[in-house]
Amino acid sequence: MNAMLPRAEVEKVYLSYGRCCQADGFFRDFYAFFMSKSDDVRAMFNDTDMAEQRRLLRSGLTWLIMYARGGSDFKLRQLGETHSRKGYGIRPEWYDLWVEALLEAVREHDPELTPSLEAQWKETLQPGVEMIRGAY
Ligand code: HEM
Repeated sequence: MNAMLPRAEVEKVYLSYGRCCQADGFFRDFYAFFMSKSDDVRAMFNDTDMAEQRRLLRSGLTWLIMYARGGSDFKLRQLGETHSRKGYGIRPEWYDLWVEALLEAVREHDPELTPSLEAQWKETLQPGVEMIRGAY
């Protein structure tokens, strides 16, 4: 089943994401915000090559946005498996921290962000995040 948000809305989020990717330090700040929210989250990345992880998240976010505009759920299902209790064991409540940290990073790095665009970001992320979380 595919998610389907109004295309114009997702388009704005995609452009905002483009501005964030252009900005220096978006992914670095995201992981700093995310890890500062919980020692358990921080511990999950103890052995992680964070430069590689930042690169992987760049694609991961693209898949989330594409899914919101009706694209394939194939990649998100894979992430659901790797993050599930059979994989990394990412606890469902950590996804709320993930979304909070992401919005903090967007606020920091998209100079054109408005309250309504931020609300659209939340809506856009939600279906994909729920798919990955729901695979736990
Ligand atoms: C919906 C939000 C998320 C997305 C889009 C996402 C994306 C990704 C991607 C693309 C990878 C690399 C591919 C893979 O290993 O399957 C990955 C790995 C990982 N993610 Fe996530 N992730 C999300 C949420 C989380 C959360 C909430 C945590 C909590 C700590 C987390 C922890 C990890 C860990 C530990 C790895 C493996 C790191 C390693 O290889 O050392 N992720 N994630």
